[in-house]
Order: sequence, then C-alpha cells, then structure tokens
Amino acid sequence: MIVVTGATGSIGRALIERLDGEGEEVLAVLRRPADLGCEYVLGDFDRPETVGEALSAGDRLFLNTSPWPGFVRGHRAVIDLAREAGVAQVVSVSVRGAAPGAPLAGGMHGEVDDHLRASGVPWSILRPVGFMQNLLTDVRDGRIYGSYGQGRVGYIDTRDIADVAAALLTRPVGPDGTYVLTGPDAPTQDEIAAAVSGALGREVRYVDLPVPEMAAHLAGQGIPEPFARDLARLMADTGDGRWSTTTSTVEDVTGHRPRSLAAFLADHAATWPA
Ligand SMILES: NC(=O)c1ccc[n+]([C@@H]2O[C@H](COP(=O)([O-])OP(=O)(O)OC[C@H]3O[C@@H](n4cnc5c(N)ncnc54)[C@H](OP(=O)(O)O)[C@@H]3O)[C@@H](O)[C@H]2O)c1
Repeated sequence: MIVVTGATGSIGRALIERLDGEGEEVLAVLRRPADLGCEYVLGDFDRPETVGEALSAGDRLFLNTSPWPGFVRGHRAVIDLAREAGVAQVVSVSVRGAAPGAPLAGGMHGEVDDHLRASGVPWSILRPVGFMQNLLTDVRDGRIYGSYGQGRVGYIDTRDIADVAAALLTRPVGPDGTYVLTGPDAPTQDEIAAAVSGALGREVRYVDLPVPEMAAHLAGQGIPEPFARDLARLMADTGDGRWSTTTSTVEDVTGHRPRSLAAFLADHAATWPA
C-alpha cells in the first residue's frame, strides 16, 4: 500500500492521480473527507497517532504537509510511528537548502530531515525550489511583488515533484538519498512576468520592493509581522542566485524533462484565477 499524506495539496493530488493511473493501491490520509478517487482515512499531524493508525508493515509512505507551528513535532512523531509500524520507505518533501536554524520552512524541514535520516526507516528526501503553482496566487491586479531583484530561480512544476515521488514509491526501495529538484530553466521575475503576460494576453509586471516595503506589503495581505519580514528577507537572499542552478534530477529519476514555465502557463491559462 502507498500511503499519501498532504493528499489534498498541490503535490498530493498530482501524485494520487499518477498512482491511480498506474493501478497502484493508494490510501490517502485526510483531515476531512474529500473525494480524491481513492480510499482514505482521517488523520491529522497535530494528533500523530491518527496518522500512525493508517500505517502497516511494508507500506510506502509519502510524507508531506505545509509548515505550521507544530510541523517539526508532528512530522517527527509520524516518522517514529512509521518505524514502529515497519514502513518500508518514507519519501518526504523538504526544500532546497533546508538546515536546522535556517529561516522559515527551511529550518523546520532541516530538523525533520535530520530526524528522518537517523530514523532507521529507508528514506528519500525531495528538496525542490519554489513552485510554479505559487504564481496562481502571486499574480494580483496585474502585478507580481517581490524582493528578488534580478535573482534567478529554477522554479518547478509540482506535477514533476509528484512524478519523482511516484517513481521512487513504485520501484523497489533503493538506497537512501536526497534529491534537489528544479525546473528546466531559471528565469528572473521580470522574465516570469513577461511569460505570464504572453500566456494570459494582458500585462503583468514584476514590482521589486526593498525588504521593509515588501514585508509591509505581505503584512497588508494578512501575513503575521515577523513571518512577513523573514519572508521578504528570504526573497532578497534568494536574489543572490542560490536557487539559480538547475539540476537534471527530475529527468534522471522519471525519464522525462521537467515541465517548462511556458508549458505550465499553457496548461493553466484558461482556468487562471480572475
Ligand atoms: N510553495 C513553495 O514554493 C515550496 C517550495 C519548496 C518546498 N515547499 C514545501 O512543499 C510542501 C507543501 O506541498 P504542497 O504545495 O503540495 O502542499 P499544499 O498544497 O500547501 O497542501 C498542504 C497539504 O498538507 C495538508 N496538511 C496541512 N497541515 C496538515 C496537518 N496538520 N495534518 C494533516 N495534513 C495537513 C493539507 O491538508 P488540508 O486539505 O486538510 O489543508 C494539504 O493536503 C511544504 O513542505 C513546503 O515547505 C514549498
């Protein structure tokens, strides 16, 4: 059985579709009932035992949620329960550059990754860069705001992360490993805005803001103050090019090239949020 957490998320939905298509036996773990076309049980990482109850010896586990204050505690507990249940493999979603003490999600992921590596359960850690799917909410009123300057980022389509996870979860369990996942190119925000403009047929501009102004902009959208400041700072740091190199990992694992920004935009233009 392949047990999928974060099943209603961007990666999770694509993963379930892919596994269903391959005729795999899938069990989704959901916080509330949803029709994903597969069997599901209810479970919440804030009550890790409810996720643990879904696990049996020999299962393969896709481990993913989104960061919240209880993230490290919840994920560590579920990893421990996976070991106790005799789970055969954990494929976990992290982020490129994750390390304990790093700001925002990078620090939380770093702590969870360390715990997983030391757990004794066979593991694969996926470390993607920023998601193309973020654009679906980042483009507002014809603008994309950020503090990246001219920094390049190798944005990835979450469907490619799902494809990598599906490959790792369906082949015989291999050696433990960390996979840095990127798209095929690393555009600047100006180049992204131009590509979005072309795909949507209306002008979208990138507006680069100094960190304090970007923090205020994010706070104005309801993001709590300290988090907004860290997020703006992270954007500016990313502008130094740390996420600009691309890797061949998606193609190495799946046999296909990662989806381009142009392909992502073409697939989403017709249903783009108003
Ligand atoms: N966005 C980026 O650019 C980016 C870049 C690199 C790495 N990442 C990492 O990617 C991951 C997010 O993946 P995604 O985009 O597929 O997720 P997503 O679309 O944000 O969805 C999150 C999923 O996790 C579930 N979830 C959240 N908290 C939970 C809890 N306490 N217990 C059980 N389920 C819970 C949600 O369920 P509900 O439906 O119940 O809410 C949902 O299914 C995060 O670890 C993030 O740090 C993101």
